Amino acid sequence: MITNEFWLDRWKTGRIGFHMEGVNPKLVEFWPTLPKSSHVLVPLCGKSNDMIWLAEQGYQVTGVELSSLAVVQFLGDNDFSYDTHQEGELKIHTVHDLPLRIVEGDYFQFNESHFDACYDRAAMVAMPDSKRAEYVRHTLDRLSPSAWVLLISLYYDGENQGPPFSVEEHSITSMWGEKIHKIVAENLAPTHPQYKERGHSVFEESVWRIQP
Ligand SMILES: C[S@@+](CC[C@H](N)C(=O)[O-])C[C@H]1O[C@@H](n2cnc3c(N)ncnc32)[C@H](O)[C@@H]1O
Repeated sequence: MITNEFWLDRWKTGRIGFHMEGVNPKLVEFWPTLPKSSHVLVPLCGKSNDMIWLAEQGYQVTGVELSSLAVVQFLGDNDFSYDTHQEGELKIHTVHDLPLRIVEGDYFQFNESHFDACYDRAAMVAMPDSKRAEYVRHTLDRLSPSAWVLLISLYYDGENQGPPFSVEEHSITSMWGEKIHKIVAENLAPTHPQYKERGHSVFEESVWRIQP
């Protein structure tokens, strides 16, 4: 079962193979040009460097992450100075030199809204089947009606043992709505032996966008 404890334990034991050292090339390639200071939500953000890239473009970035270890590592690894205050169940860490906040706590307790855009990498696919639709609904409720979404999803054959979970195309459109479109997809199995070794002949990473 994928519970909050599962994720806290992954961070405690350092099993964070999902973390990328650099900035995700798909973000750089497919992120739209939005007005500076647009508010960008990054759900289930881990300690992703993608947030720094977004903040450096001038956007007001808010990441939400459950694990205090992830937050401490993100702030510490980047030598950020920051202020922290508590809002109900959530701790808000505001970075001084970049337009960036990390909200520490359960995403489902995070109720701010009117975000202009959302970046989802390894967040929707981290959610088990039983919680995925609720995750998407909660995310859409955080966004303004004219918000952009950039989503990186995964689809693979063989056993659907996640995270990351395999998500079918029809399920993406039924959860995110008809406005979401696939921009590009790449089968990583032929070029990345680790996926073949795990029994996948298809391991497709796809990029989706809601473009208002
Ligand atoms: C697969 S990782 C992806 C992290 C990040 N998006 C990245 O690209 O590196 C999923 C993250 O979601 C966090 N998470 C899981 N459930 C959460 C919840 N209910 N609220 C906030 N964060 C959560 C986990 O601690 C983990 O860091």
